[in-house]
Amino acid sequence: KPQAIIFDLDGVITDTAHLHFLAWRQVADEIGIVIDEVFNDSLKGISRGESLQRILHHGGKAGAFSPEACAQLAERKNRLYVHSLRQLTVNSVLPGIRELLMTLREERIPVGLASVSRNAPAILQALNLSSCFDFCADAALITRSKPDPEIFLAACAGLGVDPQQCIGIEDAQAGIDAINACGMLSVGIGKGLNGADLLLPATEFLTWPCLSAFWQHDK
Ligand code: BG6
Ligand code: MG
Repeated sequence: KPQAIIFDLDGVITDTAHLHFLAWRQVADEIGIVIDEVFNDSLKGISRGESLQRILHHGGKAGAFSPEACAQLAERKNRLYVHSLRQLTVNSVLPGIRELLMTLREERIPVGLASVSRNAPAILQALNLSSCFDFCADAALITRSKPDPEIFLAACAGLGVDPQQCIGIEDAQAGIDAINACGMLSVGIGKGLNGADLLLPATEFLTWPCLSAFWQHDK
C-alpha cells in the first residue's frame, strides 16, 4: 500500500478551476486583456500573485502596474472568486471523489491536501470534506508555486510519510511536474498532461482498486 495519497483541490476534488477562470477573466477584461480557457490551463496550480503576472504578460502589460495596483487586482479577483464559491454545495464534489475518500479511510490510508489556494480550507468545509483529510498543507506558508514540489513536500512532512512511498493526484501540468519532482508516483486527471505515471480521463475512473493496481504495478 502507499503510505499516503495526496490530492490537489481545484479541478480534482471540485470544479473550482472553472470559477478561478471566470474571476480572472473578469479582472483581465477590466484592464483590457482577453484570456480564454486554453490560456487558463497555464494558470492551474499557480499562486494568485503569479497568475496575475502571467495574465499581464499575456496581455503585453507586464510592468504596467505598480505593486500596489497588482495587489488590488489580485484582491479584486479573490473577492469575485470567493463570491462565486457561494454556489458550492455538498453536491459539488467531482464524481467518485467522495467514495474514494471514504474507501481510503476504510483502508486506513492517510490522505493529504496539497493546494496552493488560500481558500482551500473554506472549500473543503463547503463540500463537507474537511474530516476526510488527515493533513492539509498551509498555502500561506508556501513560498514557491507548483511546479516546485514545496507544497507536496509540506503535505508529506505533515503526514510524516516518505514522498517516494506516496501517490499524488493532479489535473494540472504544473502539479504533475511538482509530484514527479519529489519522487512521488503521479496520477493525472484529464487530457494533455505530460509525464503522469498514470493518466485517467476523469475523476470517476479514480477508484481505490485502480490506484491499488497502479501502485502494485509501478512500485
Ligand atoms: C490553485 C489554482 O489551486 O490555487 C490556481 O489551481 C489558483 O488557479 C491558486 O490561482 C491560488 O488560489 P487562491 O484561492 O489562493 O487565489
Ligand atoms: Mg488543480
